Amino acid sequence: MPEEPLRGKTALITGAARRIGRRLALACARAGADVVIHHAHSDFDAESLRTEINRLDRQAWVFKADLTDSSHTESLIPLISRIAPIHFLINNAAIFEPLTLDSASLDDWNRHLALNLTAPFLLSQAFARQAEAGGRIVNILDWRALRPGADHFPYTVSKSALAAMTKSMAVALAPRITVNGLALGAILPPADGNVSPEITKNIPMKRWAAEGEIEQGLLFLLTCPAYITGEIIHVDGGRHLV
Ligand SMILES: NC(=O)c1ccc[n+]([C@@H]2O[C@H](COP(=O)([O-])OP(=O)(O)OC[C@H]3O[C@@H](n4cnc5c(N)ncnc54)[C@H](OP(=O)(O)O)[C@@H]3O)[C@@H](O)[C@H]2O)c1
Repeated sequence: MPEEPLRGKTALITGAARRIGRRLALACARAGADVVIHHAHSDFDAESLRTEINRLDRQAWVFKADLTDSSHTESLIPLISRIAPIHFLINNAAIFEPLTLDSASLDDWNRHLALNLTAPFLLSQAFARQAEAGGRIVNILDWRALRPGADHFPYTVSKSALAAMTKSMAVALAPRITVNGLALGAILPPADGNVSPEITKNIPMKRWAAEGEIEQGLLFLLTCPAYITGEIIHVDGGRHLV
């Protein structure tokens, strides 16, 4: 594989300023891509990421949008396209709240669906309208998407629907654009620190993901044969199997 396999391409990563999105954005830049950094609240982190990507000699642009507001979501890609054509869309932004069927309010339900499902739908639709042949969409999923249980109820349902949408969209957008999913397991503890110390007991690999493992998963989906579409790859240490 060439040293910079993504050179000449531009990747839009939603929720890119912090945590996993930031790691994915830096992986794209190190692989040679220019990066559109979407964020909602993390203005300082988005700017520091732009500086870090510029130091890698790649271009980076920062766009702020609340993706629970469909009018903001619908205008995002048309705005970005005035500056640069986008070749890769990585739907990463999400909310993950410890709600049950009983405790989730209608507002909780609507917020999760709006960000975790409706935003990827609207962004993918807009992306497909402007993308050249060879475009790629990667939806960041969760092992829970294909093994839905009762925990994090609205989140789990939204990710299950996003997994289904990954496959439906792969058919709808072929042969121009591939659509695949990266289903993650224990990568980073939630920002609120709410995590069970027992978590690794249920992971066949008995550990959290190592530095670089999700980045490699994403780069695979951005460089793999275009004959791979509608695929969901788990980077979860085997969690979805048990
Ligand atoms: N952490 C894990 O171990 C793990 C495990 C399985 C799956 N995943 C998946 O991996 C992805 C990233 O996980 P993460 O833990 O890094 O996520 P996170 O920190 O909880 O959230 C990612 C980003 O979503 C953005 N966001 C929140 N509300 C938004 C809104 N209203 N509009 C637009 N963007 C909004 C935030 O951007 P701002 O900071 O700018 O507000 C935030 O940085 C998610 O799709 C998640 O479901 C993560």
